[in-house]
Amino acid sequence: MAGKIISVSSVNGGVGKTTTVLDLAGIYSLMDKKVLIVDMDLYSGGVAVSLDVKNKKDIFMMIDSMANNRFTTLKDYVTAYNRNIDILACPRDPREAMKIESRFIPTIFDLAKREYDVVLVDTHHVLDEINLTIIDYSYMTLFIIINDLVNFKNMKSLLSIFKDTDKKNYLILLNNSRDTGKDYTSIYDIRTMIGGNIDYTISRNFYIKNIDKYVMNGEILTLNKSINTFHSGDISNMKKMALDLIDDRHRKEDI
Ligand SMILES: Nc1ncnc2c1ncn2[C@@H]1O[C@H](COP(=O)(O)OP(=O)(O)O)[C@@H](O)[C@H]1O
Ligand SMILES: [Mg+2]
Repeated sequence: MAGKIISVSSVNGGVGKTTTVLDLAGIYSLMDKKVLIVDMDLYSGGVAVSLDVKNKKDIFMMIDSMANNRFTTLKDYVTAYNRNIDILACPRDPREAMKIESRFIPTIFDLAKREYDVVLVDTHHVLDEINLTIIDYSYMTLFIIINDLVNFKNMKSLLSIFKDTDKKNYLILLNNSRDTGKDYTSIYDIRTMIGGNIDYTISRNFYIKNIDKYVMNGEILTLNKSINTFHSGDISNMKKMALDLIDDRHRKEDI
């Protein structure tokens, strides 16, 4: 099996990365794909908590075993969420998070690609060495922006760096469900402001008032029947996005 590494990133925090990672995992699992969610938001990751998964193992234990020649198989470090979705959790202790160096990332990804169809990597929004390595080794990166001027300006700077460095394997999602009072800037104006295309939009209708109820129950929104019924428009946009992210046609550079 040669799975695909799909990372979800952003230039500002709190834009809906983790929520989108979980939503995508739900969609891929319905396509009967084997999914691994890797929580690389190392200091404040929320994948295991959001899914109410009590993990005994995490990424730190994995790299620690690798460094000490104790590592045997990836399976020993992941925790199952359902039949198709496993997670590789972030460490609970920041002192352990600090020890996860970027040089481990290619190895972790290579191991994951052998066992899973899709490897979804959740990140934090700081473009440090870890994040740049994740993006470099991703089949595709989804950048999420919200309707916010500072966010547009930061995205513009990043897109100009991508142009300079010939980085092309990314798509951009505008998430209007996070800040529903702020969808007054038109897509056309946003494109001009960021100097790039908006590939997908999650509408303000997808604002889920009682989202915490789902988090409490460890539920994935896209696997919930009533969410699928009441938000069919946004769900079908997300399904298209999920397919595009793993589709060769959207990749413009080799890795
Ligand atoms: N569609 C939505 N409706 C309502 N609240 C949302 C929605 N998506 C995200 N949120 C909330 O916004 C906050 C930030 O989302 P999160 O996915 O954690 O962002 P990030 O991972 O980028 O920091 C969380 O409290 C989350 O519950
Ligand atoms: Mg997050």
